[in-house]
Amino acid sequence: MSLWKDIVFGRDNGMRASIRRAVGLGGAPKAAPGANAPRPEAAEKALNLGVEAPKDVNPPDGYEVVLHKDALKPGQAIEIIVAGKAIAVTNVDGTFYASTNTCPHAQGPLGEGKLDGHTLTCPYHGWAFDVRDGSCHTFEESSIETFAVEIVDNAVCVEV
Ligand code: FES
Repeated sequence: MSLWKDIVFGRDNGMRASIRRAVGLGGAPKAAPGANAPRPEAAEKALNLGVEAPKDVNPPDGYEVVLHKDALKPGQAIEIIVAGKAIAVTNVDGTFYASTNTCPHAQGPLGEGKLDGHTLTCPYHGWAFDVRDGSCHTFEESSIETFAVEIVDNAVCVEV
């Protein structure tokens, strides 16, 4: 039941839940188990996004500023809505990559996946993708679209 709920409504601490909360359609985020308890990874990501995307940057033609480069730590992935499109942004040792956020298997949110080196693994059923070129390690014919990334000043800019 929980898997179906996650597929349809997203995870309680995922991007879709945070969007529902932002527009007043969802409840408060789950309470932390204790003040000194470690935070879930998704909560850490949300806190990191407190670093606002630079507003005084002129991205290259065709690019959009998606986040501050310090908002996403090495080894992390996140889903971002930009220009009406959901993309997954990853940071591999300080190099940023962007791809579609939608897994070709069953539309899993790749930005909520696990990043290990250049491999991004879908949180739903474990299909794995190379963030550099979008190739799929699980099924060769199931690659994902990737987008060019440029860093301008402190801004991560994606060609979408
Ligand atoms: S949705 Fe099944 S592996 Fe991504």
